[in-house]
Amino acid sequence: MNILIIGGGGREHTFTWKLKQSKKVNQIFILPGNAGTASLGTNLPISTTNFEAIGKVCLEENISYVIVGPEEPLVKGIVDFFSADAKLKNVKLIGPGLAASKLEGSKSFAKAFMEKHGIPTASYRHFSLETLKEGSEYIRNHPLPIVIKADGLAAGKGVIICHSHIEALAEFELILQRAKFGEAGKTVVVEEFLSGIEVSVFVLTDGKDFVLLPEAKDYKQVGAGDTGLNTGGMGSISPVPFFDKNLEQKIKEKIIVPTINGLASDKLDYKGFIFFGLMITRKGPYVIEYNCRMGDPETESVIPRIQNDLFDLFAAVHNGTLGSMVIQTDPRCTGTVVAVSGGYPGVYEKGYPIQGLDRFNLEDSLVFHAGTRLENNIPVTSGGRVLAITSFGSNVTEAVEQSVYALEQISFEDMYFRNDIGFEFVELNRQ
Ligand code: AMP
Ligand code: GLY
Repeated sequence: MNILIIGGGGREHTFTWKLKQSKKVNQIFILPGNAGTASLGTNLPISTTNFEAIGKVCLEENISYVIVGPEEPLVKGIVDFFSADAKLKNVKLIGPGLAASKLEGSKSFAKAFMEKHGIPTASYRHFSLETLKEGSEYIRNHPLPIVIKADGLAAGKGVIICHSHIEALAEFELILQRAKFGEAGKTVVVEEFLSGIEVSVFVLTDGKDFVLLPEAKDYKQVGAGDTGLNTGGMGSISPVPFFDKNLEQKIKEKIIVPTINGLASDKLDYKGFIFFGLMITRKGPYVIEYNCRMGDPETESVIPRIQNDLFDLFAAVHNGTLGSMVIQTDPRCTGTVVAVSGGYPGVYEKGYPIQGLDRFNLEDSLVFHAGTRLENNIPVTSGGRVLAITSFGSNVTEAVEQSVYALEQISFEDMYFRNDIGFEFVELNRQ
C-alpha cells in the first residue's frame, strides 16, 4: 500500500515514523513534510488545501490511504472533495467529512451538538453582531471569570479567559465589531469558566465503533510553570498520572459513547481521530473542545506508546473491523519536549542550521521534526516549533529528563525549550 500523509509538523513525522514500521506499507508520501519525514518517505511541495493537486498525486502515485494531520484541510472539506470525484472516491481517508469536522470548525456547532446529546460541557450562549446588545447584557450578568471564544478556527488564539466584565465586554466587541479574528469571529460563544485539571483523550472511530488511545496532557504556555503566552504546545506527557480506570470509565460513559452515538444519529460521516479536550472538574469530566484530528505535540507522546501496527488500525476504520481491535499500550511513560525558535510564539528567525541531531542514541530518544527543512542536505529551522523529542521512562519525570538531556546535545541559534514539562507530577514521581 502507498500512503499519503498530509501536514508537515511533529505529528506528521510521528505518523510517518510509525507507519514506516508496518510491513503492509510500501511508499509513504508526505505533503509538504519536513526534514525529518524526508528521510522516511517522499516530501511533496504542495499546499495542504490544494485538493486538486492532492487528488492528482493520489492517482499518479497509486495512493490507497490518506492520513489528514491538521484540521484545515478537513474543515475545508477534503473528505467530501474525494468522495464526490469518481476517480478518487475509492481512496480511503482518515479524517471526518465536512459536516462532522464542524465539531472543531465551529464552537457553536460543537456546543449545540453536546447540548442535544447530553454531553457535559460548560454552559454557554452564542451571539453575533445582530445580537450584540443581548450579548453585552448576558456578559454583564455573568459570574467571573468569563470565557469568550471566537466561533471558528483562529490559530489557537480565539479563546480569552476574562477576569473582569470590562475586559470581557471589550473582547466581545473587538471580535464582533472590529473583526479581531476576521470571519472566525462572526459568531462569539460566551461560556462559563470551568476549573479543574485538563487532559487530552483520543479515539479512532469509524463513526460506529471506536478504540481508545492512550491519554496525554499538553503544556501550552511558553514559560516554565505554565506562564506566559499560549503556543501550539511546548511538550506533552503520556500517561497522565491521575487518569485511572474509574475516570476512564466515566469519560467513556458520559462523553465518548454519547459523542459517537450522536454522530451516528445525526448522520455525520466520521472516519478518523476525535481529540476530546477535557476538564476534570469536581463534578466530573466536561468537554472543553472537540478537535477532529490528533493533537500536536500529544501525538508525539501517544503514538510511540501504541504497540499495534498503525496501518492495521487505519485499515480497520475502513473495513468495519475496528470493533474487534484491541489497543496494545507500552506501559512505560513518554515525555515530549519541544524545542522552539527564540521569540516564538511572537516574531522569530528561520534558516538556522541544526547541529547535533546524530549525537545521541536514538534508541533512548525519538527525534521528531516540526518546523525544519533541508538546505543543501542540512536540516535548518523553518518554523516556530522546530523539534519534538520523545523519550521513554518508568515515570513521566524520568521520561522528560531524558528528553531534556537529549535536547542538550542539540543546538541551533536561539533555541529554547521548557525543561519542566510534567512539573506538577515531579513530587508524585519521587515518592
Ligand atoms: P481551546 O482553544 O478551545 O483549546 O481553548 C484553549 C484553552 O482555554 C483550553 O485548553 C483551556 O485551558 C482554556 N479554556 C477554554 N474553555 C474554557 C472554559 N470554559 N473554562 C476554563 N478554561 C477554558
Ligand atoms: N496541542 C493542542 C492541539 O493540537 O490542538
